[in-house]
Amino acid sequence: MEMMRGRKSLELDANGWKDRLANYNRILLDLGTGDGRYARTLAEKHPDWFIIGVDSCRENLHEHSRAKLQNLLFIIASAQNLPRELDGLISHITINFPWGSLLGSLLVSDSDLMGGLKSVARPTALLKVRLNGGALAEAGKTLEAGTDKIYYNLRRVGWQLEQPVMMDASALKKFPSTWAKRLAFGRDPRAIMLSGQK
Ligand SMILES: C[S@@+](CC[C@H](N)C(=O)[O-])C[C@H]1O[C@@H](n2cnc3c(N)ncnc32)[C@H](O)[C@@H]1O
Repeated sequence: MEMMRGRKSLELDANGWKDRLANYNRILLDLGTGDGRYARTLAEKHPDWFIIGVDSCRENLHEHSRAKLQNLLFIIASAQNLPRELDGLISHITINFPWGSLLGSLLVSDSDLMGGLKSVARPTALLKVRLNGGALAEAGKTLEAGTDKIYYNLRRVGWQLEQPVMMDASALKKFPSTWAKRLAFGRDPRAIMLSGQK
């Protein structure tokens, strides 16, 4: 499993990894973490949670992965090929404002992504997916139609979802991720949050 610290990429030793997680009840995976700002904010605010940020793109992670926090780790991996070392460990999953192949895989219910989410999640894990209008428009869908499709796809593979919740510009401004801030001040400051349990 490849981890990032600053500009360095390191191979994580499987044994040391389990020891590091041993004292944490809540282990949150932030998939498509981008620059890692959300993951870092959570790790700073909740020293008793362990936060794992995953993204396929290493360049954006240089700044926040330098943070010297015991409870924060960034892994370079594709959402469709999550490391097996994460299997059964994760109590909370967040996917904030996905785009590209991450969003595409949610829209078509790609079995590698959907299977990977199920594999890493503990039996009662919680999932939150925040979708934004601009990314769905680029994928050829309205916010509402894209959300419906993803809602249906997640339910079909067993996630018990609640009613979607709208996020307006003010909710986006308060949300501590870099992309949420960009959206809040951009042309289409609308997002929808899906949340549910395995
Ligand atoms: C719009 S950014 C959102 C970043 C962050 N969640 C935020 O709120 O600031 C979407 C992120 O998804 C990542 N991504 C897209 N496809 C991915 C994939 N297949 N696997 C992992 N990450 C992916 C991109 O590299 C990008 O960092």
